[in-house]
Amino acid sequence: MTQQTSAPPPATLADLIHRLDHARSTGEREMGTETGTVPLGHYTDRHHWQQEQDMLFAQWPIVAAHSSEVPAGSALPFDALGVPMVVTRSGDGRVRTFFNVCRHRGMALVQAEGPEPAKAKSCKTLVCPYHGWTYGLDGHLRHRLHAETFDGIDPATLHLVELPCAEAGGLIFVKRTPGPAFSAAGFLRGLEEHLQWLGLADMKVFRKIDRVYAANWKLTVDAFLEGYHIRVLHRDTIYPFFADAYTVNLDAGPHQDSLVARRRAFEAFETPRDRDALCKLATPTQFLFPNTFLIWHPDYVSLIGMFSPAAGEVRWMHTMLIPPDRTGDDWIPHWEKTFRLIEETVFQKEDIATAVAIQRGLHSGANAGLQAGRLEHGVLRFHRGIDAAIGGTLVPAGEG
Ligand code: FES
Ligand SMILES: [Fe+2]
Repeated sequence: MTQQTSAPPPATLADLIHRLDHARSTGEREMGTETGTVPLGHYTDRHHWQQEQDMLFAQWPIVAAHSSEVPAGSALPFDALGVPMVVTRSGDGRVRTFFNVCRHRGMALVQAEGPEPAKAKSCKTLVCPYHGWTYGLDGHLRHRLHAETFDGIDPATLHLVELPCAEAGGLIFVKRTPGPAFSAAGFLRGLEEHLQWLGLADMKVFRKIDRVYAANWKLTVDAFLEGYHIRVLHRDTIYPFFADAYTVNLDAGPHQDSLVARRRAFEAFETPRDRDALCKLATPTQFLFPNTFLIWHPDYVSLIGMFSPAAGEVRWMHTMLIPPDRTGDDWIPHWEKTFRLIEETVFQKEDIATAVAIQRGLHSGANAGLQAGRLEHGVLRFHRGIDAAIGGTLVPAGEG
C-alpha cells in the first residue's frame, strides 16, 4: 500500500512495535495474567441480549460507514442498529444522521435498492417517495406538497429527527438514540492517531458484504480477539504467513489495538518506517468497542461491523477498503481474487462457520461456559467491557 506519511508512528504504536520486536527476538509470547470463563447465557439468553441492546447498541457510538462511503451531496441508509437511519453529507462536507423516517406519515426517505448492501445515493435533498415532502441534507423540511392543507401544523416542528453523529480517522460514528453531541476522536482514546498514521481516511471502498449468520455476535468478535486459533483453524489458508500466537496488544480504554505477528517478523525484522513495512511484519488490528474491527492485511483493509439482530444471530458487514492509487480497472481482478480468499474462504468457511457451529452446541449442556486461556486475554477483556457497560460502570469517552 502507498504510505501517506513518513512521519514516525505515534508513541503508543511505536511501543507496540517495540514489544513485537521483543517478543520475536526473545521467543516470549505476551499473555494475560489469568484464565476465565464466559457464561453461556451471554450468547443465548434473550434478557442478556436485551441488556446489550439497551446499554450498548442504543447508547454507544457505533461505526456506520467508512468516510468515503458518504461523499458530499449524498445519503446512505443504515439500519444495522435495528431502527431506520440515514447518514448524509451536505455540500460543505458535514456529516449528519437522522431517523430515516418522514415526519408526515413515517415513510422511509432513502431505501437500499435490491439485495446488495446499501450504497449512498447522490442527492441534493431527501424527497419522500410517498407524498413528496422534501428535506435538505441538513434535515430541514423544505417543501410540502399542498402545504396550505396542513394549516395549523407548524413546519418548523417537522424537521427530521437528528441523531448524534461524528467523524474521525476516516470513520463515521452514529448513535441510535437522540442526545447530545459527542467527540469521535475522544471516543477513540488515542487510536485516531494510529488510524491517521496508517492512512485509513484515504482508503476507498472496493466491495461490501452484508449478511446474517446463526451465531451470537460476540462469537465472531471473540474469534478476532485472539491469534491462538490461527495455527489450527486457518492451517491451510493464512497460517503459512503467520507466527504461532505472537500477538502484542494495547488497551485503549475499552478498545484494543494489536499487532498479530507474521512469519516475516521472525525472518527479517527491521523497525518499520511506514505502513507497508509494518503490515509485512504484523497485521495491525484495531477493535473499536463494542463491535467494529479494522484489519490491515498486507495490501488492503477489512472494516467489519458485527451487529446483533437477535441473540442467536450476527449481522456481518464487511467492507473491503483499498488504497487510493490502486482503484483502476486493471486492479479489479487482483482485488476480486483477494476478496474471495479472505471473505469467502477465511472468514465465511473458517471464522464464521466456527461461530455458527459453536452456537449450535451451546444448548447441548456440554459446557457451562466457554473457557479462555491466557493467550485469549483480549477475549476476556472484551467480555469484561460488555459486563461493565451493561452494569453502567463503563460509558463511552468523548461525551459532554
Ligand atoms: S409519508 Fe412522507 S410525504 Fe407522506
Ligand atoms: Fe480467524
